[in-house]
Amino acid sequence: MNDLLIKKTTASFQELFGSTPSKIVLSPGRINIIGEHIDYNDGYVLPAAIDKIICFAFEKNNTNTSKIVALDLDEEFEIDVTAKVQLTDTVWTNYIRGVIHQLTSNGFELEGVNCVFSSNIPVGSGLSSSAALECGFLFGMNELFNLNIKPIDIALMGQKAEHWVGINCGIMDQFSSVMGKENKVVKIDCRTLEYEYHDANFNDYALILLDSNVKHSLMTSAYNERRQQCEEGIAIVKSHFPEISSFRDCEEKHVLELKDKMTEDVFKRCYFVVKEIKRVSLACEALDAGEIEKVGQLMFETHEGLSKEYEVSCDELDFLVDSVKNNPDVVGARVMGGGFGGCTINLIKKGTETAIKSNLSKAYFEKFGIELKIYDVKIGNGTSLHTI
Ligand code: GLA
Repeated sequence: MNDLLIKKTTASFQELFGSTPSKIVLSPGRINIIGEHIDYNDGYVLPAAIDKIICFAFEKNNTNTSKIVALDLDEEFEIDVTAKVQLTDTVWTNYIRGVIHQLTSNGFELEGVNCVFSSNIPVGSGLSSSAALECGFLFGMNELFNLNIKPIDIALMGQKAEHWVGINCGIMDQFSSVMGKENKVVKIDCRTLEYEYHDANFNDYALILLDSNVKHSLMTSAYNERRQQCEEGIAIVKSHFPEISSFRDCEEKHVLELKDKMTEDVFKRCYFVVKEIKRVSLACEALDAGEIEKVGQLMFETHEGLSKEYEVSCDELDFLVDSVKNNPDVVGARVMGGGFGGCTINLIKKGTETAIKSNLSKAYFEKFGIELKIYDVKIGNGTSLHTI
């Protein structure tokens, strides 16, 4: 599947610019096994890069103007890389503008490039196509101009580009897009950015994504609001328990004790965060021990919390999780990523997927009149150069 994408992108580059690209970069989307909305709350997360990617073809063009072509959208834009960068109404271009802004404001001197990109990461499905766009473009600039930016800094600059566009995200998406490894999940300590790879061995279970096909239009404002509520909550906790410096040091009892000092929403958000931080460590231990049913159970708990306490689910996603909850062949399911739409991630007994997929598609269409999209995911490598 990716071979075709690479061929198509390279051929279009040749057609549009009349030359062979000098660099081809592949940048993946990500899944997250567990640890949602805690990357910006000093928690741990357990994501992985996937085999759905954006392919970029690049060359320097020896001018000050970059020309970027989004093949799938049949759109393009030009940007003077020496001028002040501004946000525009064309959202996809803002991620690239954000990267250029990051590079120039960090003192890197850029020249123009020609770039064509094309993707098979579904957009708006919670698979972080924007992180793949930021990190892939940055990676390409790094390679073309020998900027010597370390992979971890590519992730951090990608995150800042996303902030510039307007969503105050944590580090998980960019980190996993850059640092992912085939057949590994990466446990990231979002407080220190230390990380360790664990085997993504789910034994008899397959990882299946069910895409609700509901796009998260509420996402930006609601996401930023959640983050603010958590900041408000932790400030209250710290003022009563000076020994606590972040959610990492909190126990459920601390938050419970302060329930009447917080608004109901702030309490619910904090209560979720403290429990979710614990769940990630438990899930990681269970994964290492091959106890996949335990991992799945924790995923169900996470969904419950994301739906009722963090309130980032929606009817469609709740339906998808509720429908598999009592099925003994599905050991875990939950909304994945920022929420308000996008995908659920499911651990489904190998051999039973076909029947489950077809029953769910039917039930989902009957209930919401929406086509369910289904992706079998493989865990792939982080952003890399493709040798032509
Ligand atoms: C989005 C953000 C991430 C993370 C998730 C929720 O994907 O970009 O930083 O907060 O939501 O876990």
